[in-house]
Amino acid sequence: MKTEEREHLINILRETIYRLTGNYYPDERMKILEYKIERLIKSQNLDGSPPEKIINYFLSSQERKKLLIDLMTVPETRFFREYEQLTALMGGLLKDLKIINLLSIGCSTGEEPYTLAMMMRKEGKGGKVVGADINEKVLEKAREGHYRAGAIQDIPEEFRMFVRQRGRGIEVVEEVKRMVEFRKVNLIEERDFESLGMTFDAVLCRNVLIYFDANSKRRALENIRRVLKKGGHLVLSSTEILQRDYHDLFEPVKVGKFFFYRKGDGHDKGSDS
Ligand SMILES: C[S@@+](CC[C@H](N)C(=O)[O-])C[C@H]1O[C@@H](n2cnc3c(N)ncnc32)[C@H](O)[C@@H]1O
Repeated sequence: MKTEEREHLINILRETIYRLTGNYYPDERMKILEYKIERLIKSQNLDGSPPEKIINYFLSSQERKKLLIDLMTVPETRFFREYEQLTALMGGLLKDLKIINLLSIGCSTGEEPYTLAMMMRKEGKGGKVVGADINEKVLEKAREGHYRAGAIQDIPEEFRMFVRQRGRGIEVVEEVKRMVEFRKVNLIEERDFESLGMTFDAVLCRNVLIYFDANSKRRALENIRRVLKKGGHLVLSSTEILQRDYHDLFEPVKVGKFFFYRKGDGHDKGSDS
């Protein structure tokens, strides 16, 4: 394939990934995308095919579009990631609630929603955690709740009663699994949020929006806002700051050294229950 044909192909697939998922590959991450696309093309035996044929192939069915979604997913996660921040959320903002409903979106293989359920269980709180992601493969793994043995190292001693050995790995115990439901939700699709059919005290969306551009980030934040209860909170990773441009949707609230984002009273088409 000539250089300009290759550039054209990569650009079309980059745009398609953006349109489908909101994830934008900026120029400095293009090398990663190119590498991933090359591997995908090989895996589908499309090596040496003309660009138009490759583009048609990936756009011609939902199943093949999923291959592009898998391609963009950065699945990295772990149990009790930023535990101190989660403690500030549970022991601070949500302290007085006996029943808590949480959404973890961009939950990847499920470690984050299970961590939240373990914390709720330990504190004797009722309620539910919904783990959501655009990628069905990671959701399948999340539903299994089965992890490599080394994952135990991420779980503080006082929570290890919530996992048990299974084969050469570990699995989350049934009482925690029961509190967590996994759903396929695309952050930029309003109807996916509607189909959740419930509202939440907090929505965690950590290490996800860093891959979005300003437009798709706003769409995602508006959707999250719709499923938050009045006064509910958005939780980003502690290294992500929600810039002023979005303060019409969420107001920053500081708990200890952490910022959370409270659903403001501004414009809202969505539920306030
Ligand atoms: C790096 S992981 C973050 C996992 C977890 N939140 C954490 O902080 O450990 C990012 C996840 O976001 C998901 N994701 C990316 N775009 C999405 C979208 N448009 N809608 C829902 N999930 C998305 C990816 O599939 C991936 O599983």
